[in-house]
Amino acid sequence: DLLDANTNLLAWKEGGRTPADIFDGWLAQADALYSIGNIKINGALLDKAPNLKVIAQASVGYDNIDVAECNARGIRVGNTPRVLSPAVADLAYGLIIDSARKIARGWQHVASGKWGERKGLGVDLAGKTLGIVGMGDIGSRVVKRALASDMRVIYHNRRRRSDDAVLGAAYVSFEELLQTSDFVLVTVPLTKETEGMFGKKQFEAMKQGARFINIARGKIVDTEALYDALSSGHIAYAALDVTDPEPLPGTHKLLTLDNITVTPHIASSTVETRDAMAKLAAENILAGLNGEPMPAEVKA
Ligand code: DGY
Repeated sequence: DLLDANTNLLAWKEGGRTPADIFDGWLAQADALYSIGNIKINGALLDKAPNLKVIAQASVGYDNIDVAECNARGIRVGNTPRVLSPAVADLAYGLIIDSARKIARGWQHVASGKWGERKGLGVDLAGKTLGIVGMGDIGSRVVKRALASDMRVIYHNRRRRSDDAVLGAAYVSFEELLQTSDFVLVTVPLTKETEGMFGKKQFEAMKQGARFINIARGKIVDTEALYDALSSGHIAYAALDVTDPEPLPGTHKLLTLDNITVTPHIASSTVETRDAMAKLAAENILAGLNGEPMPAEVKA
């Protein structure tokens, strides 16, 4: 509504992706681009959009955008941090619980008429160590939830925070986190440094029977290595909201495992959060067009 009222809004309302020729026609005249999902915004796309002044990505992650290239062309870029943190933290906590208690597996079991057949036991959260890789706004909200389950929380971050006592989590090296966590949760953004951060070596370094949860980006994990670690049982369970590839084809071998839960990248998908993200993205666009400070601008 905000964009409708203040701009000449070109939006595809027919369902599915905007056809390429129509999208290119819009790019040729656009001053602003509202981007949702993982459309690649690189030099090739920007060449088609000579008037572009601002791009608003309606997500906190903006790994699909070459921000340096945008900035070099004088194009400002915004994202939607913070407004989605409670919803994403809820899903992360849900997946942590699911990895311990196999809730989704239990439902599958009942729905397939197998109630009563013996199923393996889960494990408690209480007394276990949760290791969070990436302690930002989302991670810190997961800490509160995990403490409510009487977990001990440790974290690793590029920069050590100064508020461990208030946060309720202790900073450790990445190696120590891998070696001592019963549950490892990934919340780091996808960057050149974090791509493939979890591979064979990292899974091997994790405790026998550890559980692995990813709500960040699929490419942070080497899918093949995760598959091997789950098949051997070294990693007892994985709960993933993001995968590589994404979407994950229904025939993918990860889905043949019985120690995995995959959700379709829904961490921020609630009515309230998606509204708040859309509003923030629209505000970023209007501020960018008016040459004002953007509520959430990212720079290369
Ligand atoms: C984000 O905001 O980056 C999420 O992954 C989108 O759901």
